[in-house]
This record gives sequence, C-alpha cells and structure tokens, in this order.
Amino acid sequence: MKIDLRAKILKKKRGLFYTPSEVFRKCVLPKLKDSLWDYTWIDLYCGKGDLIIPIVKAIEENNRNKFFSEHIRCFDIDEHALSLFADRLRQIGVKDELIKKNLIQLDTLKEFPSFEYSYPLYHITNPPYLYKGYMPKTEKTRDLLQYFKGKREPLQDLYQVALFNDLMKGLDKMIYIIPTNFLFGDANANHIRQLIFKYYNLVDLFIFEKKVFSDTGTNTCVCFFEKKAIPSEADQIVYATKISKDGEKKRAYKLSKKFKWRAGSEFYEFIEQFKADNPLHFEYYLLKKDVEANKGEYEVTLLDVNNYSKVVAKVNKELHDRIKSNVLFLKTLDTGRFEGRAGLYECKKVFGVDGIMVSKDYTYRTHPIQIFFKSRLSYDEQVFVKDWFNYILNKLRKEYDSDFMTTYRESTRYYTRKYLGLKQARAIIETCPLSDVNVEEVKHIHSLEPWIENYLAKKEIKVKDVKNNLRYWDTSLQTPKPLNRRKLSCRCRNNRPANESNQGY
Ligand SMILES: C[S@@+](CC[C@H](N)C(=O)[O-])C[C@H]1O[C@@H](n2cnc3c(N)ncnc32)[C@H](O)[C@@H]1O
Repeated sequence: MKIDLRAKILKKKRGLFYTPSEVFRKCVLPKLKDSLWDYTWIDLYCGKGDLIIPIVKAIEENNRNKFFSEHIRCFDIDEHALSLFADRLRQIGVKDELIKKNLIQLDTLKEFPSFEYSYPLYHITNPPYLYKGYMPKTEKTRDLLQYFKGKREPLQDLYQVALFNDLMKGLDKMIYIIPTNFLFGDANANHIRQLIFKYYNLVDLFIFEKKVFSDTGTNTCVCFFEKKAIPSEADQIVYATKISKDGEKKRAYKLSKKFKWRAGSEFYEFIEQFKADNPLHFEYYLLKKDVEANKGEYEVTLLDVNNYSKVVAKVNKELHDRIKSNVLFLKTLDTGRFEGRAGLYECKKVFGVDGIMVSKDYTYRTHPIQIFFKSRLSYDEQVFVKDWFNYILNKLRKEYDSDFMTTYRESTRYYTRKYLGLKQARAIIETCPLSDVNVEEVKHIHSLEPWIENYLAKKEIKVKDVKNNLRYWDTSLQTPKPLNRRKLSCRCRNNRPANESNQGY
C-alpha cells in the first residue's frame, strides 16, 4: 500500500501522470458524457482512435453498436492506424460491418468529407501538426505544401488547415488538441486566430506545459470551440486550466482583436501603458565583420559566442570605446550553457570580457547578445537599465505565468525552456524611464523594487489622466476645462519636484 502511494507521488512529481487517454478521461469526457447521444462525433484525423474509443466505451455495452452506427464517423489517411482502431473497436464489442462503414480512409485535410449523419456534428480531434516553414526542407514533407493553396495560403501549420476546413464547413462545436502556439504564437498563428475568433468562442481550455499527445515535445492545449450566434469581434475571456510538472493552476485569459486574439496579451497592454516618454534606443549584436572592418591598436577581450571561447581583438579607438562603454548583454533563454534566467547581465561579470561577438554569418536569438545604446550611457545608468529590465521581466513573468515567453525548441532535442523574444526584450527596455531618473541618487537605494513599483503606480495614474483628458476632448465640442492632473513626482533628472522627500524609495 505504502509503495503504491509512493509510486503515485513519484509519477506525479516526474510529470508522467497524463497519458493521452488520462487527459481525455480527466479533461474532456466529463464535459461530454451527458450529451453523447445528442451528436454525431467525428474525428477526421482519428488515428488509432484514442479520442473516440473512450466515448464508445462510455456507452453501456448493449447499446454500443447502435451508438457507433448512428453517432460515430471517423477518418484518417493512414490505413494501418485505422486497422489498429478497428481492432480496438472489435475488442469492445463493435460489429465489423459497422466498423467498415464508419471508419474511412481518406485525405481529410484536402477538404471536409461528405458523409451521411442524423445528429449535429461535433468534431473532436488531435489533427496532424507541422509548421509550414519545415515543409520544403525534406522530400517527404514537400508534398504537404499542397494544402496551403488559394485561401489557405496564409495558414502556417497543418493543424490550421484542419481548423480552416471546419470553419468553412460551419461546424457548431469542436474540440481540438493542438500546439499551444495557436494561443501564444505571433506570426505563425495570427491569421488562423483572426479567422476563428470572429466566429467561435473558446469556451474551455486546458494547457499542458509538457509532452502529452505526441512524442515531438510540442506543448499542446485542448480547445473547446463553440460557434457564436452572430459573428463578433468583442473581447473574450477564457478560464483555462494549466497543467505542468508542478500541478494545476487556473488562469483567465483575455483574448482581444486589438492584440490579434493572442493569449497573454496583458504583456503587450503593460508595454503599451508603461512605454517611457523617451524610450532608449539601442542595437543588438557585435558582428565579427565589424570587428574586422575596424582593426586598430586598441585591445578588447571578446567572447566568441559561436564557440564560447575568449579572443583578444585589436580594433580602432572608436570601436574599442563603443565595446567598452556598452557593458550589458541580453540572455534570452532561461537555462543553457550558463546558469540563470533570461535577463540583462554584465559581460564582464558573467564572462570576464569586454564584449560578445558573433563570428558566424548568422546571428542566433538564443545566444547571449551584447546591447549597444545609441547614446552613450554611464556605467551606473546601464546598471539601472539592467535592474529595471530584470525586475519588470520577472514581475511580468510572475503575474502572467511567463505566457508571453515562448517555449524554446532546439533542433535535435526538445527542452521546455522559456525563451524571451528580441521584440519583447526591446519592448521591456523601452519602458525604462532613464531620462526621468537621477541615477546618482537611485544607485544608493537599498532595494530598487519598491522604487519601481512606486514609479509604475504614478505612471499609471498619469496615463489614466491623459486618457480621461483625451476622452473629454473627444466627447465635448465645447472648450475643454483644464483637468486637475496629478503630478508624477518621481525623481527627475532635469525636472525634480521641489517638495519630494526620500521616503518610499
Ligand atoms: C496527431 S495524430 C492523431 C492521432 C490520434 N488521435 C490517435 O489516436 O492515434 C494525427 C493523425 O492525422 C492523420 N493524418 C495526417 N494527415 C492526414 C490527412 N491528410 N488526412 C487525414 N488524416 C491525416 C495521421 O495519420 C494521424 O493518425
């Protein structure tokens, strides 16, 4: 008994708890079990029947043949998978003649199949996934580009073709087990989300932050879609259950057209709200070709990021000063060759070098990347930018469960490491209000965190006031009265409020 319990705890701890059928039993079946007789259950990519077998099994044995005959229609392109499915159905008492009739070998990505049915269709499926960008790379996958012609051209993945076909068919209800990039992706999912969310509500959602349905390591989610009575572009709130190695969490997501229906858009709302009045301008990367084009007498120690070796380069004074005066680098990945979370760090402190150089022709977003500010910042100013960035990044990660970061996948192996996009890193740096800050004073503050929170709170009030003011102008055709604006009373380098005390910083 004791051993059993230990094994169970261990299994849970290692994240081995959910197999596809367990996920189905836990997340999906309880929501369907009272309406099994109301629909025709279809799976157009049914494989060996992982999703349909539990539905048939949920029906009492003496009714299974009737149920299977009237309420199940399944398709797959793979004959072998269908024969495994057929075996499983036989084992639970379904007659051969019905199996032959209702399990059909067909290419259903090409188009939605036509077949007879009496009850409304309910599509429950785990469709094939493959990113369109990979397709031209191999002989085997090149052929799949055929599914992306005409109106489907902007689609980016096979699962999106499946969704698109259902949308065109006008299905009322679908349950899709698909990669989480459907929710969180940017360019690779914007188009399909814009098509789907005008017509469908996402009424329920399970997000798995680990492997469940495939051995490819793709994180998946279970999306319950219901067709809207009238197409609409109003915001949607979906209450999701997130399942990870650490257990389950509930999280509400706001999906809005303004942010291309992307889950985790709170990040972009924050960035929009807190963008600094004078955002910092900077460039990423020091390239070998620039080092070679600027040879000279001045020595700099560089980390060659392509092989993690230190090199000493001799460059001209201008480049020497540029490298030496820009002390920060961006780490976009949580873990890797060096410990720590994504964030800004100092080249000298982490690698003992003046700069970080890319020696190959391609830059990698996941390597450490040196940051070059357009105007010269002092060391203390850069330390402030670093502390600000790391605090804001970790605050957003905590509040929004790192949803705005992508799960990073390496070409040969799969990791569930989080990756911060370069655009997102830039957006966070652009919130840094360096021009409003007296760094000399700030650097003596014991803990910057309350200071930043205080700053954000004041900025929030200011932004609200400005919005109210704009509303006032928008709605009133009369001469506007001056609004009683509250002042931002944080420390300002050039415009410091006279009555300010040190308290609270
Ligand atoms: C992710 S698997 C789903 C597996 C399934 N849930 C099971 O229980 O085995 C995707 C399925 O889509 C099928 N498939 C791939 N391309 C297809 C196409 N063009 N038409 C129909 N089925 C296809 C594959 O054969 C595979 O069985």
